[in-house]
Amino acid sequence: MLQNDLILRTLRGEATERVPVWMMRQAGRYLPEYMVLREKYGFFERCQTPELAAAITLQPVDIIGVDAAILFSDILVVPQAMGLEVRLIESKGPVLPNPILTTADLQRVCVPDVEETLGYVFSAIRLIKEQLNNRVPLIGFAGAPWTLLCYMVEGKGSKTFDKAKQFCYTQPLLAHTLLQMITDTTIAYLKAQAKAGADILQIFDSWGGLLSPNDFETYSLQYIRQIVAATKDIVPTIIFAKGAWQSLDQMAQTGAAGLGIDWCIKPSFARQLAGANITLQGNFDPAKLLAPIPVIQQEVTQMLNEFGNGNYIANLGHGILPNVPVDHAKAFVDTVKQWQPNVA
Ligand code: CP3
Repeated sequence: MLQNDLILRTLRGEATERVPVWMMRQAGRYLPEYMVLREKYGFFERCQTPELAAAITLQPVDIIGVDAAILFSDILVVPQAMGLEVRLIESKGPVLPNPILTTADLQRVCVPDVEETLGYVFSAIRLIKEQLNNRVPLIGFAGAPWTLLCYMVEGKGSKTFDKAKQFCYTQPLLAHTLLQMITDTTIAYLKAQAKAGADILQIFDSWGGLLSPNDFETYSLQYIRQIVAATKDIVPTIIFAKGAWQSLDQMAQTGAAGLGIDWCIKPSFARQLAGANITLQGNFDPAKLLAPIPVIQQEVTQMLNEFGNGNYIANLGHGILPNVPVDHAKAFVDTVKQWQPNVA
């Protein structure tokens, strides 16, 4: 039924006419059309109003020509639904004024009924699916439990998330109780996204790379594994654990259809670690989109040559930056669309 199902076929391991492409954070501040809506409405107002979320979700499909839409929302709507206050402060990022630090604090969060607390997301998905009218698939998403714990404990962004780590390393039982609550909420949330119409799900573990391989298993992967197990037979699931390349092998064994990788690992090495059968997604340095267009074209071509055709979705290695010119983002996408594999 979908007119463009390149990404879905790639995630199933099928051959496609060309490499599919989308960009993490493709709906955002680099688009003037987004800035117009950003001036009129608050961030969570944009997330909670299905008409606004739908309009923003469709912008990069119409303007840039990507092969998938990704729901406009945020990973922090889950901590919000669990009972925590989350604010988004301009030029500062997310702030959670009352973070979880003690057993008593845990009383303030719950595993909510997702229809009651996050129903606006499912309404947005249904509206987006209507407006997309089968042009491209819709990607739903959630934060990985570890990355959500980082914000729920630290209370704000951080380079090291040492308070979140201290919480885990000094109160492991409490940490695991919280991680399991986030996991249970996320499973219900993602299943409902798929039911509302999401064709693909991506799990964002933005801070997975802060953990040692053993701690990644303990505090992150064992929970991601539960989420993938619960969703993989409904829709294909992609795990993006930034910086956690050391665990690509273990991530490949979760049953995920795809693995996102960042720009700090060579495509050939990522392939060697992940194995031949899983789809890889990435890994252009988002800051390289600030380079002149001919440099972007040359480096994207090199990236495509290294990944090769098949089992591969072109993307950035992390979210697009707000200061990227729109024609540079378009050059990235167009270079992927025009690339032809060198078949000797
Ligand atoms: O990809 C998309 O276009 C879909 C929408 C999307 C947003 N956030 C919108 C957003 C997605 C998938 C996210 C995920 C997200 N949110 C992550 C994981 C991915 C990543 O980039 O690592 C994280 C860690 C967050 C938490 C978050 N939300 C931060 C740290 C910030 C502030 C930093 C920033 O980029 O401004 C946000 C705000 C946010 N989420 C914006 C957008 C478009 C910017 C809001 C604005 O100023 O208009």
